[in-house]
Amino acid sequence: MQPTPFKLERYFAQHEFTARHLLCSSDPESMSIGELLAFEPGSIDALRETWLGYTEYPGAPALRRALATLYENVQADEIIVHTGAQEAIYSFMHSMLAPGDHMIVHMPGYQSHYSVAEAMGVKVSPWKAREEAGWALDPDELETLLTPATRALVICAPHNPTGYLPTREVFDAIVAFARKHNLWLFSDEVYRGLEYDIADRLPAACDVYERAISLGALSKTHGLAGLRLGWIATRSAAVLERMSTFKDYLTISNSAPSEYLSTIAVRHTEALIARNTNIARGNLSLLDEFFARHANRFEWHRPRAGTIGFVRLKQGHAEQFCAELLERTGVLLLPSSLVDHGDAHFRLGFGRRNMPEALAIVDAYLDATVTSTAS
Ligand SMILES: Cc1ncc(COP(=O)(O)O)c(C=O)c1O
Repeated sequence: MQPTPFKLERYFAQHEFTARHLLCSSDPESMSIGELLAFEPGSIDALRETWLGYTEYPGAPALRRALATLYENVQADEIIVHTGAQEAIYSFMHSMLAPGDHMIVHMPGYQSHYSVAEAMGVKVSPWKAREEAGWALDPDELETLLTPATRALVICAPHNPTGYLPTREVFDAIVAFARKHNLWLFSDEVYRGLEYDIADRLPAACDVYERAISLGALSKTHGLAGLRLGWIATRSAAVLERMSTFKDYLTISNSAPSEYLSTIAVRHTEALIARNTNIARGNLSLLDEFFARHANRFEWHRPRAGTIGFVRLKQGHAEQFCAELLERTGVLLLPSSLVDHGDAHFRLGFGRRNMPEALAIVDAYLDATVTSTAS
């Protein structure tokens, strides 16, 4: 059975390279290969020398050694590199779940967290973020979602699309629940590192729970989506074994030039995080003013991490609002129907340097629509 089409990706396939201004992208500002290589003098020559044969199937050793430094209790051989986080999600679901299993998934969320498993015959229960509480999760609800067939819990923190970051207490309660019921905890941490206050950073799930799988990628925190580089980190030998075997039917091994460039990126994680959180923080202060000015139209919970937020329209429908905005201004927002969450919200992305220009266009558009409605 085919998974249902990935609505968000189909929308980006249609608009990402034609819309004049992207205001809903989740990935931060990217950079050229030249800018990345500038982090390490001499790396241009090494790139030229990079051998274009197959690389080692779990990922180049130097890359996995660099990735292991991002964790406290995980070693290089407990990491499997994938082609983007997306491949790792697909592989985890197929490797560790079976038809008839049940899984609890943080929602609204990233569609592959539930559609891949549903297509396999896995039953999915949504664990719903509570908008009234700033999109918070309530761990007390977890016991009510459990069934005898529950095998896995999927969370995403910092969260796409709401920007929610659990407190340490909530995170610990999630881990305790997973441990009590012996569940796989699939923890999508692709935005981890983009906390505006470093004191808010949560531990990686794989560091604190032996049946956790932490999902990482260079697409978000590092802003390097074009490298198509993701990974899982886990202390579970069963997961490592089954996901390695499954990868033989996917990409086998990664792209050698990408692994070389990725190794440089991972070695400069702190600098890339500083760059990307600075851009997000600056854009957020403009968004604070924007939402204060348009409080009659929108409701917004300011994220504590990441590059995206989820905004409620106080009147009207999100699909119509986004379609009209795109048609009249060329600014792309993402209506919530594309993340299976009604038609009253849209996703906003604020990780790009040109966000102020796009926001100013929306501002002028809103002022003009008020005037034209009033006249
Ligand atoms: C929460 C989340 N997980 C995974 C992915 C996929 O990442 P990648 O581009 O590395 O495949 C995305 C991309 O938008 C995402 O937002």
